[in-house]
Parts: sequence; C-alpha cells; structure tokens
Amino acid sequence: MLHYSHIVETMDYLQQAKSEGKTIGFVPTMGALHEGHLELMRRAKRENDLLCVSIFVNPIQFNNLADLEKYPRNLSADIQLLHTVSCDVLFAPNAKEMYPEAITETFDFGALEKVMEGAFRPGHFNGVGVVVKKLFEITMPHKAYFGEKDYQQLAIIQKLVDMESMPLEVIPCPIVREADGLAMSSRNARLSEREREIAPRIFQILQQAQGLVSQYSPGQLKQWVINEIGKTKAFTLEYFEIAEDKGLQLINHWDTSIGSLGFIALNLGNVRLIDNIRFI
Ligand code: PAJ
Repeated sequence: MLHYSHIVETMDYLQQAKSEGKTIGFVPTMGALHEGHLELMRRAKRENDLLCVSIFVNPIQFNNLADLEKYPRNLSADIQLLHTVSCDVLFAPNAKEMYPEAITETFDFGALEKVMEGAFRPGHFNGVGVVVKKLFEITMPHKAYFGEKDYQQLAIIQKLVDMESMPLEVIPCPIVREADGLAMSSRNARLSEREREIAPRIFQILQQAQGLVSQYSPGQLKQWVINEIGKTKAFTLEYFEIAEDKGLQLINHWDTSIGSLGFIALNLGNVRLIDNIRFI
C-alpha cells in the first residue's frame, strides 16, 4: 500500500494510474476504522482497479470542540486494517496540508441542510462539503462510496456532485451493524461498558417503530419513539424525525409511492449517536 500525506504526490500517482486506464474507487474516512468502513472499501476494491482511502479528521466539520478533541485516532491500527482489504493508496494528510489558508468557501445545500443534522450541527455540512470537494479534486475517483449510516450526508454529497458537475458516481452502501443491532461508529469506542450495553436499545426501538407504520400516522409514530427513548434515562434525545428519502423533508402522512425513513440522534453519556431505518 502506498501511504501519502501530501496532496501533490497523491495526485501525481492517481493521475498516472488514470492515464493508464485504471479506475479509482475512493472511500473518504476520518479513521478509527471499523467493519462499516471496511465494507465500503471491499466494495470499492471489487468494483474498481484501485482502492484509495483517505483518513483525515476534518476539524471544520466539528461544531463541538470537545467532540473533535475526543475523536478516536489510531493510524497504526487503521493501516493494519487497510492491509486486510488490500487498499492500494492511503491519503492521510494533516490539517495544514488540507487547509493552508483560511476557508471561505460556502455551499448552499438548500432545504437538505435545514433539517436534522443540518439543524442541530450548524456549519457541519459546509465543513463536509469543503473537505469532500477537495478530496474529490485530489483523488479524482470514478466512484466514491458513502454509508447510509450518515444518510443525510450521503444526500448532501450527491447534491454537491450535481451542483459542481463532478464527473464521478456516488455509491450508497447499507449500514453495517454490530450483532446486537448497534450501528457501527468510530464514536462507539468512547462508550463505557454500561453505555455499550444500553446503546442497542436505539435500533430495537427503531425496529419496533417499523412494525407500527401500518397503525400510526407519522406524527403518532414520532411521539411513540420519543416516549420509548424517554424510558431509558441515559438517553438524551436530540431529534427523531420521519422524512422522505430524497429531499429529506419531514412528512406528516404516509405515501406508498414516496420512500421514507426515521432518523434519530441522541446523546448517551457524552457520546453522540445517530441511526436511521427505512419505513417505506
Ligand atoms: P466517517 O465517520 O469516518 O465515515 C466514513 C464513511 O463510512 C462514511 O461514508 C460513513 O457513512 C461510513 N460509515 C460509517 N459507519 C458506517 C456503518 N456502520 N455502516 C456503513 N457505513 C458506515 O463520514 C465521515 O467520516 C466524514 O464526514 C467524511 C465523509 C470522511 C468527511 O470528512
């Protein structure tokens, strides 16, 4: 595996590979890799000649300084895992390499950024947009792989690619879960033993909610989930919303011709967890 920390050397290598007709599959990450990341990488490796992964804890997408400081970092363990998926190129820059100057770029993602993660994490999606655009310019992938765990991020990236007319395909990948249903996340490593035991309750409630779609309106179902979450005192709910699957606008009645999902964000101790489930 080639391991680059500079932009120019990464671009030179990938440009050369592209000129030789090789296809590039790209998986951007913030490291602390787990099976969820590795599934994206296996797919990218299968579907392309070269697998390129980036590891960069992007400071400008953190709206909470403590979250940035406590974000798990373990490059040597990550490198071991990258070998297991036969990663060809790792791009792991530092912040100065990515942002030599102050960032002024702003995106207008419209209604997409006004709900849920966009509403609760001001500036987050702009920071994601800035870094992903730059990473796409550096790696010039044919296909880029993103997890549905961050469903709204996926929609934002698709919009970014459309707005900027970038010549690449965004590939959505299903959520990878632990055996007990907890959605895999780098932040899970920060849960205490007790919190880790409680955390699977989130997906259990979402699954139960899925079974109630035929009985309840979206508003009633939302209230049901809020009540259920409230029964676990360790959870502090940020939001539970039911939204359609394209523009992520909140819905108040079911329509079988329009896909919809439930989206949740909560704090467990000082760890923020998100998850989602398809209803229709
Ligand atoms: P990170 O949280 O490291 O996630 C990298 C990619 O892995 C994202 O596309 C995310 O949706 C996916 N992923 C994480 N957990 C997953 C799971 N349990 N199942 C499936 N996919 C999962 O998302 C980011 O980093 C950053 O915002 C980034 C896009 C790299 C920009 O900084």
